Amino acid sequence: MNMRDIIIAKRDKQCLSDEQIRFFVKGVTDGTIPDYQTSALLMAIVLNGMDDREMTTLTLEMAASGNQMTFPYLEGIPVDKHSTGGVGDKITPILLPLIATFGVETVKLSGRGLGFTGGTVDKFESIEGFNVEVDTKDFHMYVIKTGMVISGQTPDLAPADKILYALRDVTGTVDSIPLIASSIMSKKIAGGASAIALDVTCGSGAFMKDYDSAKKLADAMIRIGKLAGRKTVAVITDMDQPLGRFCGNILEMQEVYNTVTGKGEEDVIEVVTELAFQLIKLAEKTAGMSDEVLRQEIRARLSDGTCYEKYKALIQSQGGKWIDGAGPVYVDKPFDCMHVNSPDAGYVQEVRADLIGQASVLLGAGRLAKTDSIDYGAGIGFFVKVGDRVARGDSLCALYHGEKADIPEDRLFDAMDLILQAYKVGPEKPEKKPAILGVIT
Ligand code: URA
Repeated sequence: MNMRDIIIAKRDKQCLSDEQIRFFVKGVTDGTIPDYQTSALLMAIVLNGMDDREMTTLTLEMAASGNQMTFPYLEGIPVDKHSTGGVGDKITPILLPLIATFGVETVKLSGRGLGFTGGTVDKFESIEGFNVEVDTKDFHMYVIKTGMVISGQTPDLAPADKILYALRDVTGTVDSIPLIASSIMSKKIAGGASAIALDVTCGSGAFMKDYDSAKKLADAMIRIGKLAGRKTVAVITDMDQPLGRFCGNILEMQEVYNTVTGKGEEDVIEVVTELAFQLIKLAEKTAGMSDEVLRQEIRARLSDGTCYEKYKALIQSQGGKWIDGAGPVYVDKPFDCMHVNSPDAGYVQEVRADLIGQASVLLGAGRLAKTDSIDYGAGIGFFVKVGDRVARGDSLCALYHGEKADIPEDRLFDAMDLILQAYKVGPEKPEKKPAILGVIT
């Protein structure tokens, strides 16, 4: 077997055999296949696709390229959740403690933010003392203690995906449903989850810009999950405008605290409720409740103190500083440095999440290169969102930077420009889009 024949086979629209895919993943992992051949095959996959069997084999081989976690001591079904990314997406820190109140156990391996989408690890790192670099052996201690653990991805988890993703990033081969689906699912499977809920975001601030492509990606991941013996559901959520009222690390964690103390935004509550509902069902922890009662119970636990207690347990168990009545202690303080005002009167038609995300990166909330440092206090707070009425001169949003940060004025003005492009105000009241666009089980 050799790489040249494998590339030619895919170039000529043939299905690759399991042996050919195994040869490829093994060669990528041990470094025996040069980047130019790997890149050529990736491009052939982008152009000619893969069928379900090929995608599943690629997924399982990437999952097996490093350590695969198992949790034999857990009585229940370990679950995981994955979001395909977005702006203002603070679902994970709410979801984990929420489902833990139903006895659902989660081992969550998350990434840092890159580009305009935020990363869950950065958000937790904005809490003083919170340890996100969890040693694999300590995972088990945390899960036993609180039913949940959140950690940055360990280097030995699906290393083949890491190598392939870095190459895809620089060879124009990211946008491919088989490659995205196998990349995501390989990490979920290596992470040891038996049941997986996928939040497939859709819109200007997401990988998938329209519903049809989001559905195609969701369908592909569900089919892989099924063939790999993992219970998998997907919730397609709107990411045309940012989720909730804030984006930026501390600002979002403050919004998380508001949500677990019963003061959440409706779009955030809708998304977290649906994902919790799906995961509780997959984990068989409904305790005989009907679907309707379960949904009501999930919402109730966000405001009756049940989720708050579990959130506190999660933060404290991983070393985060906490003050009763005030919540987590953060590493910095967001400083409201400028408001952007509406140049027109009317209804907000659009708040483009991608442009808001880019503005947020300019303010320091995200990074453009993996090695960039971030300002945890930076971000944006939205006074108005799609469908709201504004008068000329009303504040659309507030820009923040951390009290410890010093941001050059020209960057502040560039961010402001992006925000003015992101907000579209017009005379007609637009129809409000739901936060949940579809559920695929
Ligand atoms: N997220 C991943 O983990 N992999 C992809 O290919 C795209 C998004």
